[in-house]
Amino acid sequence: MRPNSSVSPALPIHRAAGTITHMKNIGLIGFGNMGEAFAAGLAGQGGVKFGVAEKAAARLAAAREKFGAEDFTGRPGDLLDFADFTIIAVKPQDAASVLEKIAPYSRDKKFAAIVAGKTLDFYLSRLQTPYVARFMPSLAAMYQKAVVGVSFPPAPEGREAEFADFRSQALEAAAAAGFALEIPESLMPVITAVSGSGLAFVFAFINALALGGVKTGLGYAEAAGLALRVTEGACEVLRRTGEAPSSLITKVASPAGTTIAGLQALEEAAFTAAVMRAVEEAASRAEELEGV
Ligand SMILES: NC(=O)c1ccc[n+]([C@@H]2O[C@H](COP(=O)([O-])OP(=O)(O)OC[C@H]3O[C@@H](n4cnc5c(N)ncnc54)[C@H](OP(=O)(O)O)[C@@H]3O)[C@@H](O)[C@H]2O)c1
Repeated sequence: MRPNSSVSPALPIHRAAGTITHMKNIGLIGFGNMGEAFAAGLAGQGGVKFGVAEKAAARLAAAREKFGAEDFTGRPGDLLDFADFTIIAVKPQDAASVLEKIAPYSRDKKFAAIVAGKTLDFYLSRLQTPYVARFMPSLAAMYQKAVVGVSFPPAPEGREAEFADFRSQALEAAAAAGFALEIPESLMPVITAVSGSGLAFVFAFINALALGGVKTGLGYAEAAGLALRVTEGACEVLRRTGEAPSSLITKVASPAGTTIAGLQALEEAAFTAAVMRAVEEAASRAEELEGV
C-alpha cells in the first residue's frame, strides 16, 4: 500500500442500506450464530418477516421468540413458497442434506449460502436455480460489523435483468451483517483469511499486548481492558484520519523514542512477516477446504 494512501476509499464496500427495499419475507435454514446474526441485521432495518427451518429445538425457539419467525421445519416446500430470499447457514457437513431436501422446490428461487468451503458449483449443481450467492462473513456479523465477501455465478443468458435484481437483493442482505464486499469467487479464500480468520489474528495481537502489560507489571484483566481500549483508539484514528497504517506508524514513532524501540523489537521477532504468513496459511487452508 502507498504510505499516504487513504484507507477507506480503497474498499468498494456496500454499506448497510437504511431500509430493506427488495425483501419482505426472508427464509432462514439454520438458525445458529450466523442465522441469528443475519436475522438481527435484517430485522433492524424493518419491514421484514422471517420463516425458519432449524433442527435444534432451543435455536428454533430463539428464532420464534426474538424475531417472531414462523416455523417451517420439515416443510421445505412451504418455506421456499413463503420466502423471497433464503439464507442457508448450516455447518458444511449438513449442507448436502439440506440441499437434497430443498432441491425439488428450488426452481428459480433466490438463495444466499453461508457455508465455509462450499463453492457456488456445489449449489448450482444441486438446486434448480441460477440465483445463488455465496457469503463469507465473520463472527463480527453478530454486531453487524462483519465484512461479508459476496460472490455470484455468471448471470444466465437472457435473464440479465432478473439476475441484476437478485444481485442487489443479495448485496442488501449481506450488508445487513455489516459491509458487503463483492469479489470474484477465486478470492473467497483470501477474504476468509483476512476477514474471517483475521478477527482471531486481531484477538491474538490484543492478547499479546495484554501479556506485555503483565510482563511489565499490570494484572491480566487490567492489561486486557487497556489493550482493548488502545485497539479501539487505534481504529478510531485510522477511520477518522483516513490515513494508511504505515503512515500513522511513522507519526507515533518519534526519533530515538520509545515507539521506534518497540517497533524494532517487533521486527526482530518478524512480526510483520508472521502476520503475513498467518494470512497466507489461512488462505491456503481455505482453498484446500474448497477442494474437499
Ligand atoms: N460462526 C462464524 O463465525 C462463521 C463465519 C464464517 C462462516 N461461517 C459459516 O456459517 C455456517 C453456519 O455457522 P454457524 O456458526 O451459524 O453454525 P451453527 O451455530 O452450528 O448453526 C447451524 C444451525 O443449523 C442447524 N441445522 C443443521 N442442519 C439443519 C437442517 N437440515 N435444517 C435446519 N437446521 C439445521 C444446526 O442444528 P444442530 O446444531 O442441531 O446441528 C445449527 O443450529 C457454517 O457453515 C460456517 O462455516 C461461520
